Amino acid sequence: MNTIPSPPGQTGLADIQQERLPALLRSMPKAELHIHIEGSLEPELIFELAARNGVALAYESVDSLRAAYAFTDLQSFLDIYYAGASVLLHEADFHDMAMAYFRRAAADRVVHAELFFDPQTHTERGVPIEVVIQGLVRACESAEAEFGITSSLILCFLRHLSEEAALDTLTQALPSIDKHRDRLIGVGLDSSERGHPPEKFARVFARCRELGLRLVAHAGEEGPPAYIWSALDVLRVERIDHGVRCVEDPALVARLAAERVPLTVCPLSNVKLRVFDTLAQHNLARLLELGLCVTINSDDPAYFGGYLNQNFVETFEALRSLTAAHAYVLARNSFEASFATSAQKAHWVEKLDAHFLSC
Ligand code: ADE
Ligand code: ZN
Repeated sequence: MNTIPSPPGQTGLADIQQERLPALLRSMPKAELHIHIEGSLEPELIFELAARNGVALAYESVDSLRAAYAFTDLQSFLDIYYAGASVLLHEADFHDMAMAYFRRAAADRVVHAELFFDPQTHTERGVPIEVVIQGLVRACESAEAEFGITSSLILCFLRHLSEEAALDTLTQALPSIDKHRDRLIGVGLDSSERGHPPEKFARVFARCRELGLRLVAHAGEEGPPAYIWSALDVLRVERIDHGVRCVEDPALVARLAAERVPLTVCPLSNVKLRVFDTLAQHNLARLLELGLCVTINSDDPAYFGGYLNQNFVETFEALRSLTAAHAYVLARNSFEASFATSAQKAHWVEKLDAHFLSC
């Protein structure tokens, strides 16, 4: 059954003028469900960690690194993104990176975040997986104490590598999963999409499902709708990351709407990686019109020109059909699509309703 949440005080909302929308978007409580923590590494922090760890970089300065952020597609971004992550060696590096993200998230009124991380990017360089996880877990704890942000971690398998490598990564992660069961809640699938369909990872996802982990996968970012079908039917994921290409297949759209499968959409990322030429051409408003459970997210904010509120504000500026009622739906979807408990979700929706009623 597809139920689309409706905001409280509908009449008042209709009166909210376009010029008041940015303030509303910035101040409303929200969750972030699609953020690669390595994609939050700002050039300044990359240089700081490179100096701290004695890692040589291919760029002379922060400015020259930033100037290289002109991407033509997903792969052109991933090449630079993996190079940036090479400065992460010690537990403190992972902690500091995540804390820098949480600081930004708090400023954007993010009250809950589910962070992706790519352990294979680090274990391939000899960093033990428990060092990665321990640093991130410690940051999640600090974020709750310092900013009141709740958070969890989703371990992503790199799809350009083999399923054997993913199974090996899972084996390495098992003691940490046991130790941090409340934090490390699920697995995802990311990296180069084309030529690496979800079904390549059927066995490792089945194993994770048996372990009781939550399942998500990137699909339909650059890859075809068939990848969304197989993420749902073969991997049995609960959320689709991106999924914007679903509109090419009406039967798929009907399925996603009927089952209320969340799509964690990342508008600024999609423009930077040329999935859409401009934000005005983005299909987010269309996805909402089709009754899909869409959320807005930042993906790799240090590389794509902005954190969560920047994504909200620029998207609403570009897509003029979006109103305060859509803002409510997007924020509410972010809570409902999260892997938090029903009690937490109800608490946030109450806060969200109160926020909109006070506008
Ligand atoms: N890893 C980091 N960002 C990604 C994206 N947008 N798509 C696939 N893999 C990623
Ligand atoms: Zn992503």
